[in-house]
Amino acid sequence: MERDEFLKTLGISLALVCAGTCFESCGKKGDGDPDPATGNGNQVSVDISALASVGSQTTSNGVLFFRVAPGNAAASFIATQALCTHANGQLNWVQSSNKIQCSSHGATFGSDGTVSSQPIGGGTALALKVYALNLAGTQLTATKS
Ligand code: FES
Repeated sequence: MERDEFLKTLGISLALVCAGTCFESCGKKGDGDPDPATGNGNQVSVDISALASVGSQTTSNGVLFFRVAPGNAAASFIATQALCTHANGQLNWVQSSNKIQCSSHGATFGSDGTVSSQPIGGGTALALKVYALNLAGTQLTATKS
């Protein structure tokens, strides 16, 4: 292969790699990007049909929603971060104990996000973020802070 031909081939290859990297980076979502489900990066919405009974829960876009009272008012629901502050374990609402519990190491939290018990086996969990809620029709919207 001649030097000129080699350099031309190398230039085309580099251009393709750079273009691919650029397109891949442009396609990734950042923290401030709008959420495709809601159109607002700070807000996450769910339909309350997924939270029909007291104790029911659902997770969407990093938010754990759960129902703590009957009736369709924002105060009937709570929304917190969905992942544990210890090591990102999945959090679940446990109605019978009135606690949020981590599925990974068992840390528990009150519905206000305060730590009730630390992870089994050591480590430290911090308080959870609890998000403001708005109910419009059947759409329950948490505003992430
Ligand atoms: S990840 Fe939740 S207690 Fe460890």
